[in-house]
Amino acid sequence: MSTTQTAQTTDAFKPGLEGVIAAETRLSSVDGQKGELIIAGFPLEELAAHATFEETAYLLWYDHLPTAAELERFRAELAGYRALPAATLTLLEQVAQVRRPAMDALRIAAGAMDLDARDLDDHGLARLALARIPTIVAAYWRLLHGQAPVEPDPELGHAANYLYMLEGARPTPAKVRGLETYLNTVSDHGLNASTFAARVIIATQSDLVSALVGAIGALKGPLHGGAPGPALDMVFEIGDVSRAESYLREKLERGERLMGFGHRVYKVRDPRAEVLARAAEVMYRDGGDMALYNLAREVEKIAVALLAEYKPGRNLQTNVEFYTALLLHGLGLDTDLFTPTFAVGRTAGWIGHCFEQRATGRLIRPDSRYIGERNRRWVPLEQR
Ligand code: ACO
Repeated sequence: MSTTQTAQTTDAFKPGLEGVIAAETRLSSVDGQKGELIIAGFPLEELAAHATFEETAYLLWYDHLPTAAELERFRAELAGYRALPAATLTLLEQVAQVRRPAMDALRIAAGAMDLDARDLDDHGLARLALARIPTIVAAYWRLLHGQAPVEPDPELGHAANYLYMLEGARPTPAKVRGLETYLNTVSDHGLNASTFAARVIIATQSDLVSALVGAIGALKGPLHGGAPGPALDMVFEIGDVSRAESYLREKLERGERLMGFGHRVYKVRDPRAEVLARAAEVMYRDGGDMALYNLAREVEKIAVALLAEYKPGRNLQTNVEFYTALLLHGLGLDTDLFTPTFAVGRTAGWIGHCFEQRATGRLIRPDSRYIGERNRRWVPLEQR
């Protein structure tokens, strides 16, 4: 055992760090037993349905709702940063030629999003990053599909402009509200994996863009932000409620995980699932076709019952990803855009956490327990 490792450290070993408090935050509170999410003091249900995404980001960064004048200025600053540097666009064109998934393109281009920025402090870079991440996703999506990127429209708010840059047409107010609700809902969530990654990076006194690139990498994995695509695929494959039970049972018999269910913290239904389910219901009703929404509701019930049967005592319930999939599909987004759109929303929280971590001045550096060999002797190459 090394001299820095005490008996206490060994006893406290938690391979997934569950239950370990590694940060203090005023950004969000997650109560996994009650199924409660508070964002900067507001119940999720209240904030998600009312705020524009700019208001949520401002709240997370500055701990109060902006006044009308503050909001106007903040929106103008964000709009002013939206356009990408020419070199970043060229990079995206090259990535599109090799047809990498959108999340890879975001990771690659996010690292180059500040090429034209000089001497910006954290707050300037924060605005630049929040404004440009949606532009990267939308520009890449169009390039991948052989279309020219759409110039951002400074008249539109953050959510409306994202849809506009994806589709090339101004979205309906109902769609904009649906996306605002989604972005607010995923804007922050305690010390989740990608947020922790961002905090670890910024804690080394690295720069904000590096922290965001690391967070994007962590978000990509299917155990974190990569689940909603597969969750929707599952509902499509089921196709009809009569097939749901046999389909889900077969998956569980094969030892597969049901995407969109289970959570490290929530042992009851994820409160975000209900907020997104309600927003999805409005969206599908507005579109005049409730079939997919109704099927998903039934699939959810059957999946939760089967998970209780196959994993008794685990309390596996619906997580945010299941209704994310349904809502974003209702907004007209392709499944490959689900995780990048999650990143568009979570960027607000990542940045808020970077501000907090930076203010502590504390390096994050846990211990490991050495379980390898000791006392090996060097063997010359010709004798191995
Ligand atoms: N389907 C089937 N079984 C599951 C599921 C699931 N969705 N989730 C957990 N389990 C099982 C595990 O196999 C394990 O069973 P075992 O003890 O018999 O081996 C038990 O439940 C506990 O699982 P853990 O992996 O210990 O739980 P953990 O807290 O680490 O996992 C996680 C949480 C990763 C989200 C998990 O529930 C999962 O893989 N879900 C599916 C993927 C998903 O929906 N991801 C999005 C999460 S939300 C977000 O990050 C934004």
